Amino acid sequence: MSDPAGRVAELRELIDAANHAYYVLDQPTVADSEYDDWMRELEALEGAHPELASDESPTRRVGAAPATRFAPVEHRRQMLSLANARGAEELAAWWRRARSVMEQEGMGSRETTFVVEPKIDGLAISLTYEDGRFTQGATRGDGVTGEDVTANLRTIRAIPARMRLPDGTPPPAVVEVRGEVYLPLAAFAELNATRAAAGLPTFANPRNSAAGSLRQIDPAATAERPLSIWCYGIGYSEGLDLPSHTAALDWLRAAGFRVNPDIRVVGDIEAVHAECVSWEERRGSVDFDIDGAVVKIDDVDVQERLGAVGRAPRWAIAYKFPPTTAVTRLDGIMVSVGRTGALVPFAQLEPVSVGGATVRLATLHNQDDVARKGLMIGDRVIVQRAGDVIPQVVGPLVQERTGDETPFVMPDRCPACDTPVVQPPGEVQMRCPNRSCPAQIQQGLFHFASRGAMDIEGLGEKTIRRFYEEGLLTSFADIYDLPAHRDRLIAMEGFKDVSVDNLLAAIEASKARPWPRLLYGLGIRHVGAVTAEALVAVAPSLDALLAADVETLAQAEGVGPVVAESVREFLSSDANVELLERLRAAGLTVVHDVPAAPADGPLTGRTVVLTGGLEAYSRDDAKRAVTAAGGKVTGSVSKSTSFVVAGVDPGSKLAKAESLGVPVLDEAGLLAVLSGESPPPERAAG
Ligand code: IVH
Repeated sequence: MSDPAGRVAELRELIDAANHAYYVLDQPTVADSEYDDWMRELEALEGAHPELASDESPTRRVGAAPATRFAPVEHRRQMLSLANARGAEELAAWWRRARSVMEQEGMGSRETTFVVEPKIDGLAISLTYEDGRFTQGATRGDGVTGEDVTANLRTIRAIPARMRLPDGTPPPAVVEVRGEVYLPLAAFAELNATRAAAGLPTFANPRNSAAGSLRQIDPAATAERPLSIWCYGIGYSEGLDLPSHTAALDWLRAAGFRVNPDIRVVGDIEAVHAECVSWEERRGSVDFDIDGAVVKIDDVDVQERLGAVGRAPRWAIAYKFPPTTAVTRLDGIMVSVGRTGALVPFAQLEPVSVGGATVRLATLHNQDDVARKGLMIGDRVIVQRAGDVIPQVVGPLVQERTGDETPFVMPDRCPACDTPVVQPPGEVQMRCPNRSCPAQIQQGLFHFASRGAMDIEGLGEKTIRRFYEEGLLTSFADIYDLPAHRDRLIAMEGFKDVSVDNLLAAIEASKARPWPRLLYGLGIRHVGAVTAEALVAVAPSLDALLAADVETLAQAEGVGPVVAESVREFLSSDANVELLERLRAAGLTVVHDVPAAPADGPLTGRTVVLTGGLEAYSRDDAKRAVTAAGGKVTGSVSKSTSFVVAGVDPGSKLAKAESLGVPVLDEAGLLAVLSGESPPPERAAG
């Protein structure tokens, strides 16, 4: 290499641009493989030329040397907090106060616009850039002095190491960018699950986990957590003159910072309130926790004249949503038995309203969860509920104990069948080992009939229990004998002929469910809906399944030895084989009707990727149509993809296709190819 320094600079720029596209804009521009190649080349060059190493290098995102403590950092300008308003009335009162100060200041006739943003429930931080380079990052601390967490912030890929300014634009001498670091909800759930499995204490909420992640002594530990950031303002600057908050947000976006795209500008306080309510409604549909909306007066001139009262600016207010946590009494801990025999404790709570719903029950997963949370029956506990998520007990208020609380003891016998429970080595869950346990059978039937499996409407938990107790239902195959008992069903209390006939019709209809849904409904351990879909590739029919050995099964995508063994074990039981034969005899679909690929269809030899919603076709139908035309549908775009079909709201696959030069068709284009009207597109040579 003649010019390693030049190549290092070039690679850093390529990687920074790709990171910006991926982590800030959410629009990937390069293939993962290409990105990995750049990273490897850069690592190799930096290894060979230590003099070229730099803290700003994207290779450093994995974390620098651990800090022993965090040094104090004085903020150039205080990091303020916000006063709160709840509801339209308090919001209007805030605006009346602000307007009256504006009038005193001679700005009464100014037309005011407001900016409404999500109030991210994360960790406030300040990012200092000097001459366009990220030089220091700090927590808020007490607003005046924070802690230096620069090394940890460098691991966050959404934080640019260098500003991305248009060519020739000189960077401002100093800018302090303010924003909120957070852990996306999906990552939070995953982190807690991993910690619980490892016997570590779980985080009570995403904010605590973000705080914990950012204050890791070892930046490599922070790098493991997929933290992100929303930037919401400029705290201090030298060499920048921005007249409004919107101008600041636009400047931040242009400089490569991650700014929420759903921030709105509105013209009056009624519209402000409507926008706050709209955020409250969308609260459950975004991938980060928000505890309110922030309303800001846009004009910086007005902001400066309004100033602050105490620590809170007069020009901004937090519109708070009702909390998603509440305190109530833990009345008892009951234990239910799942379809695999797992004993699952759950909390019985004194009913309490949380985030607009009454909560009476909450899951406790397993006895370790109860122990880890340190719960005792009779405790006052914090209950949390977010969106549609199952309510959770966060933990007890130990300081409120009276001494009358009693510890929870996991039963040593199954609460449903009294069989002594077992705890398989290495598992956290206690199990009832009795395969004929009534609770397991009923839960298994419930799973079989559920939406994702055979989808038998009307065969819910209560009905299953009744039929089970009547001796009508002990195995999946018995479901298909129910029509023979129509008279008996109608005679049962609470059943009318209409409801019985609806149920029988639903049972009949379920016979046509595709083979993978039946495979999933059987409730074989480790075989979820996705695995079942994958298994039909190697076991496209019941006969093929019965004949498949472990090696064959393990060839299915995502199926490893454990899953393959589990399937094989299921099939080694005579009772299970007999069950499958009864289901076949009842007329259930036990072959996967994928049309055989013709050797000379319009798409023979072509590999197609579908992305986005199609109008004329469901996803499954489109796959079938492509297969029937001789083509193969795969899930990800690569150089060997023949073409991509992009429907409504296509995802990152479209961008990837474009970056790889893979041709893209719309739905009409696909139809034309399928009908033979036009030939499939060819990749441009080169
Ligand atoms: S502006 C002067 N905007 O809320 C205005 N803050 O109580 C200062 N926060 O410490 C903050 N999302 O941690 C602002 N879009 C947003 C915010 C936001 C979350 C947090 C921030 C701040 C606290 C104020």
